[in-house]
Amino acid sequence: MIALGSDHGGYELKQEIIAYLKEKNLDFKDYGTDSKDSCDYPVYAKKVANAIVAGECDKGILICGTGIGISITANKIKGIRAALCHDTFSAQATREHNDANILAMGARVVGPGLALKIVDTFLNTDFSNDERHIRRIEQME
Ligand code: RB5
Repeated sequence: MIALGSDHGGYELKQEIIAYLKEKNLDFKDYGTDSKDSCDYPVYAKKVANAIVAGECDKGILICGTGIGISITANKIKGIRAALCHDTFSAQATREHNDANILAMGARVVGPGLALKIVDTFLNTDFSNDERHIRRIEQME
């Protein structure tokens, strides 16, 4: 199950991602926001992060205008490794090396075409399970 969250700045891109996940028959839960009305990104970052920590969802996707505020907030929650990615190389590397459990993006930074490629890469790349990467992740915690 994939947890989705955005503020108003990320709302439209989140709708594109929802359409993409539906097309791929992937299960998701949308934790809001539900419109383009101005709202506070920490609310949605925390909802998605808590859903992952609670085991309700395996991975999350968070979107705000830049992806910065929403990823900073998510990373304050223990057990969350939120990676801000605006290219597919980073999305692949953060899954393989960091076992990132949240992908963050900025809707004012990437267009929807690239964003969907990044989502696809993030969701379809497994953690390497390499001993040195496991060790480094343990050091983060
Ligand atoms: C909202 O205007 C904007 O600040 C937010 O979407 C995000 O970019 C914050 O980091």
